[in-house]
Amino acid sequence: MMARSAEIVGVGSCLPEKRLTNADLEKMVNTSDEWILTRTGISERRIVAQGEATSDLAVRACESAISDAGIEPGDIDLLVVATSTPDMLLPSTACLVQAHLGLTCPAFDMNAACTGFIYGLHTASSAIEAGRADVVLLVGADTLTRVVDFKDRRTCVLFGDGAGAAVLRASENPGVRSIVLGADGKGNSMLKIPAGGSAMPASPETVQTRLHFIQMNGNEVFKFAVRAIPRATRAALAASEIDVSELAWLVPHQANQRILDTIADRLHVPHERVFSNLATTGNTSAASIPLAIDDLYTSGRLAPGNLLALVGFGAGVTWGAAIVEWTKATPGKEA
Ligand code: COA
Repeated sequence: MMARSAEIVGVGSCLPEKRLTNADLEKMVNTSDEWILTRTGISERRIVAQGEATSDLAVRACESAISDAGIEPGDIDLLVVATSTPDMLLPSTACLVQAHLGLTCPAFDMNAACTGFIYGLHTASSAIEAGRADVVLLVGADTLTRVVDFKDRRTCVLFGDGAGAAVLRASENPGVRSIVLGADGKGNSMLKIPAGGSAMPASPETVQTRLHFIQMNGNEVFKFAVRAIPRATRAALAASEIDVSELAWLVPHQANQRILDTIADRLHVPHERVFSNLATTGNTSAASIPLAIDDLYTSGRLAPGNLLALVGFGAGVTWGAAIVEWTKATPGKEA
């Protein structure tokens, strides 16, 4: 009997309408389009409108993924929402999404920051492989512009909002071939939001001293990323017994073009096989990898049998890499 595997059978994404360009940021902080472009590769990012929250983006991405998979909401056994910007601390964003979609399955949030989608893929595929679920809906959704200090030029130029979803189903096809995860909590201060949790509850002082916004040591994060991504990618490739030259696409978390270029060189992957859309999305945290997959799929750049390496890294610090065999037909080329 073939081993039971988890296959991606549907994808969907959502970017908010509103654009925030580098020219807009020039009016808000002491920065320039030229600085942002050369240091990050980002030209513009999407941001949520007033009244829009993480769950709104997640719901739209999930609806597209459900429709793409050709399943009914009642077929879904588990909903996992990867986010570090939940609508509120309680209840989970997953429960809000579950209610919007009319699902009855268990639902929970997972916070592995920008590595959230890879951690979620681990949970989803493990549940399927163990026979505890047949169909899992996984969505990475974040609105980091809600927690970015638009007075801090070191961070506010980097982030954008979005959501990307995948439906995973039990299959005899290979699908998710291997996943390696990692975390090193000693790096917890590299990227954090100090206030608003149990350690430092909200108070007039925390608001006044801007402690509800992201604080980041950019240089440390950069060095961590260019070390962690190649290492995680090599470990996932080894676990699948695949050579890097067999990859159709390396799909890294979209943080910074200089990081992507460095890891491409370190892994000896031609730059044209390293997916990049950060010029127009910025860093969308847990949404970036599923947004990338949806972009590749809908633009006809994926074919059955293609091998993808999905690689994430983020606050915690956390990292993870997955080797996925694409099994869906290219749009317009269905049998
Ligand atoms: N516009 C203009 N100048 C800026 C700026 C901005 N938006 N942000 C920082 N600067 C300035 C700094 O103040 C510094 O000035 P100084 O030398 O007078 O002090 C100078 O530019 C260089 O800063 P530095 O931090 O050394 O720049 P860098 O080349 O390391 O680039 C990042 C900064 C943030 C782009 C880079 O470190 C990075 O991408 N890190 C990873 C961040 C990331 O991906 N985080 C999310 C992970 S999930």
